[in-house]
Amino acid sequence: MESDQISKNIVVLGTGGTIAGTASNASDNIGYTAAQVGVAQLLASVPGLRSVLQGVELLSEQVAQVDSKDMSFDIWRTLAQRVAYHLAQADLTGVVITHGTDTLEETAYFLHAVLPRELINAKPVVLTCAMRPASAQNPDGPQNLMDAVAVALTSGAHGVVAVCAGTVHTGLEVQKAHTYKLDAFTSGDAGPLAYMEEGQVRLIRNWPLDPMDKARVAIKDISEADLWPRVEILMNYAGCGGEVVDALLRPCDGVAPLRGLVVAGTGNGTLHQGLEAALRRAVQAGVKVVRSTRCANGRVLPVAGSEFVDSGGLSPVKARVALMLELMGC
Ligand code: SIN
Repeated sequence: MESDQISKNIVVLGTGGTIAGTASNASDNIGYTAAQVGVAQLLASVPGLRSVLQGVELLSEQVAQVDSKDMSFDIWRTLAQRVAYHLAQADLTGVVITHGTDTLEETAYFLHAVLPRELINAKPVVLTCAMRPASAQNPDGPQNLMDAVAVALTSGAHGVVAVCAGTVHTGLEVQKAHTYKLDAFTSGDAGPLAYMEEGQVRLIRNWPLDPMDKARVAIKDISEADLWPRVEILMNYAGCGGEVVDALLRPCDGVAPLRGLVVAGTGNGTLHQGLEAALRRAVQAGVKVVRSTRCANGRVLPVAGSEFVDSGGLSPVKARVALMLELMGC
């Protein structure tokens, strides 16, 4: 083993999810409890990792232990701090994060948006997950973990990416698209970044480089969880009115005032006239409205003269994260 290889590390940050889940019955792939197995134990249960690592040291840290449906701003903040800390270490090659599948795309986008550019344009942050619990007869987590570590060790890898079922997606594009299949993620019409082939990455396009030259909010400036601006998501549909918008605008004791709305419009972000009128009232009340689409593929194109900005290709859940970060800076 070369001495420069021995001094390299990969760190795996555990946050919970099905990959760390257990069921009382090994044949049960849905009646399990997520986030039960600690990240160190999870890694120890994948002996194949040793051959992927080839002497590189594997460190681990439990950042959180949650079902990702319960992901919180507090965890995001701590996770961003820990990822940035590890990426800044000279002997660290890359960071792997184990995460639930349900909100993985939001965490991926959040990290993509806040990590210092000089760190994520130099080293990879690889999220991975599983659709079956660790206790399943045929769990998918071990292979996903091995693939994630292989991606983190790949020369030239950088940026926030996600690995699941042999496919690598960028953090900007990854989206959960299936409730049950092991191959649950898509990159939409952008297509995947790469495929895993027996531990090797076959790149389809270039590693992601964010065109923005700085993070949307510096990690040190990310607000305390209870100070995050309140941004809600609405959807357009047949017969949609503006009542929900008006209800959201009404002051409510103990609830933070609404600062932003992301609307998952129909098609190219179109809105029922009742909803559109209510959204105009929201803008007049000082609420920022962003137009996205409920379509799974394609981006909302700007419409000349529209008073609602478009989401710049972001899905509704990612546009919400972007808007919260934008409002944090105001
Ligand atoms: C979760 O998102 O934590 C549970 C579901 C999953 O990981 O597939």
